[in-house]
Amino acid sequence: MAESEAQAPRATSNRSTVPVSDVFRDYISSNWADRSDATPAPREQARFAAARRASISALHPGKRLILPAGAAKTRSNDTDYPFRAHSAFAHLTGWGSDSEPGSVLVLEPSADGHEATVYFRERAGRDSDEFYANPDIGEFWIGPRPSLSQVAADLGLNTAGIADFDAVLDSVDANTLVLRDADRDVTDQVDGRRLLDADLELAEREADGVGNGTDGDVALARDLSEIRLVKDSYEIEQMRLAVAATKQGFDDVIADLPAIVAHTRGERLVEGTFNRRARAEGYTVGYDTIAASGPHACILHWTRNDGPVMPGDLILLDAGIELESYYTADITRTLPVNGTFGETQRLVYEAVREAADAAFEIVKPGIRFREIHATAMAVIARKTSEWGLLPVSADESMKSENQFHRRYMVHGTSHHLGIDVHDCAQARRDLYLDGVLEAGMVFTIEPGLYFQPDDLTVPAAFRGIGVRIEDNILVTESGAENLSIGIPRTADDVEAWLRR
Ligand code: GLY
Ligand code: MN
Ligand code: MN
Repeated sequence: MAESEAQAPRATSNRSTVPVSDVFRDYISSNWADRSDATPAPREQARFAAARRASISALHPGKRLILPAGAAKTRSNDTDYPFRAHSAFAHLTGWGSDSEPGSVLVLEPSADGHEATVYFRERAGRDSDEFYANPDIGEFWIGPRPSLSQVAADLGLNTAGIADFDAVLDSVDANTLVLRDADRDVTDQVDGRRLLDADLELAEREADGVGNGTDGDVALARDLSEIRLVKDSYEIEQMRLAVAATKQGFDDVIADLPAIVAHTRGERLVEGTFNRRARAEGYTVGYDTIAASGPHACILHWTRNDGPVMPGDLILLDAGIELESYYTADITRTLPVNGTFGETQRLVYEAVREAADAAFEIVKPGIRFREIHATAMAVIARKTSEWGLLPVSADESMKSENQFHRRYMVHGTSHHLGIDVHDCAQARRDLYLDGVLEAGMVFTIEPGLYFQPDDLTVPAAFRGIGVRIEDNILVTESGAENLSIGIPRTADDVEAWLRR
């Protein structure tokens, strides 16, 4: 581990004002009251995280699993982006926004599975200069940091100082797997040591299917995605809370509409208003807010958000609040800025809603994930055909070689949702797109229609209209629950919402 690098303060020599004399060092290191080392009760997630660790342990018997949180990412010079631990690390530890950058979870093979230890940089004593002189990690600079025993009690895990992680690296062999995309430095070190693991000649390794170790790493990343496909009861509760906070953010935007319309960059105000709620009620936003007004709504991932919000237009707001636990909502509502849908706007809006409702209707355990998209697309094909937009019938358009209706909705209808907005992304197709639904899965249903301002295949009245309706869906034992049903979604209900 690059301990010395992490310890060395970055780029402050030009403006450091910390005195360096021994007299000062002795003075600032003395006369501090004893710090409480009270250990907390285990957090609610701890037992769920333990069960998740048991799942990954059972899939990789006898393998040492190295799962870094990742290091803080430099934004520029000595400033970092806000730290976010790797999602798999958060899932397996229950440590979310309060996790320590540079931590590593190690699952060491043991007689009955694996022994889990989190290595992290514990707080420094007042006898070191770290606490007052290191802007990266000193408590004078970034606030209180936990001790090893506090984190051990909180997460229900063994803990060890990050310096001890060197011994883990020293023991890396061909039976070690690493979560590759979490921490480049750790991955490089594991790769190097696996190659040096001299007992196995290359041919022997290939015969064993061990390769250079990266095949096993790919399987680990896949499995870490797949064990998140079905959410536990803690995760489902977090999703409910994330959706509830997100609803408040949407309410705030509606309440602020007069100021938003009055500003030349109204979309930025929409983003700011939503993000204010995200910071107040959650941790942050789960992805960059899409505040897309007028023709910007036709740009699927419009996050520049520098346009005006004009009466007569629709504004598409795709936004989700991520909680301290990292679980996020992902909701889209499309609102008429002046409070009332125009005739064509309403026609398009209700077609999208019909597609969403039809897709939701079929959701229950046992159907295939991809049937949700197919059901929504049948409505989109029928509607665009009825409006005379397609060069063939709706049935012809639905054939895989045609798909003309997809000109107006090029994205998919659903993705899994959880710690990541696009959760479980490395799961096998057999379990995801072609997978069979199980109770406890959470995903979006988000059909849309987007008529680009310069699309000559549609009448002028349709051009520049973009609509998406996105809800967060929980599969239940008997069917499905729309977690975001409390956020108005029919055209009439949206108009009533705007009147309030
Ligand atoms: N907000 C990104 C998405 O809906 O997938
Ligand atoms: Mn989505
Ligand atoms: Mn979205």
